[in-house]
Amino acid sequence: MSGLVVAMDGPSGSGKSSVSRGVARALGLRYLDTGAMYRAMTWWMLQQGVDLADPAAIAARSGEPSIVSGTDPEGPTIQVDGVDVGGPIREAEVTGAVSAVAAVPEVRARLVALQRELAGAGDIVVEGRDIGSVVCPDAAVKVYLTASAEARARRRSAELTGSTVEAQQADMARRDTLDSTRKTDPLSMADGAVELDTTALNLEEVIAEVLRLVKERT
Ligand code: C5P
Repeated sequence: MSGLVVAMDGPSGSGKSSVSRGVARALGLRYLDTGAMYRAMTWWMLQQGVDLADPAAIAARSGEPSIVSGTDPEGPTIQVDGVDVGGPIREAEVTGAVSAVAAVPEVRARLVALQRELAGAGDIVVEGRDIGSVVCPDAAVKVYLTASAEARARRRSAELTGSTVEAQQADMARRDTLDSTRKTDPLSMADGAVELDTTALNLEEVIAEVLRLVKERT
């Protein structure tokens, strides 16, 4: 199974992170959360006071921060200029701003290059929005996870305190629209991807289904 790449795409709240980590653990693979890299870039831009309503300003600064991702599925890490930002990148301010930053082509070019470097050696599960289509188009296994909007919002609000299902659903709908309508590398189902609707499945069932796909295709 040397060199195996599993590409895991889908909208927010579809279960990508839990499923990707579970699959990586079961197969002894590394794990890369590309969303964390876009979040880290966004966190840095906010720290720097960059005007996030101005794509040219974002583009001009996008080469500056050093972003380093750990790939251990037991405890993935993310650092910006040597600072661990695993906590801050999950805060509402970053979540609210990340889709605007991720829509800037210069940001994507920089982070896609880093992601390809990390994924190049294989033996990795890579999760995001454009993995099967752009980052790893030759991945042996491509999965596109979906779930109903209500199920996705319910899962996310169970993870966060102080947020209602309705508020989550509205925030996700806004991000999904931005992510799937942007000009550069929009969220879409890649050629050769298998769509897996997880609405009625629990985590173990989804992981088992992905492991079955891996077995079938390798
Ligand atoms: O997966 P997560 O919700 O942490 O991703 C945060 C945001 O990063 C997404 O809403 C999207 O705007 C962006 N993203 C992206 N391409 C990826 C991964 C994430 O544009 N491969």
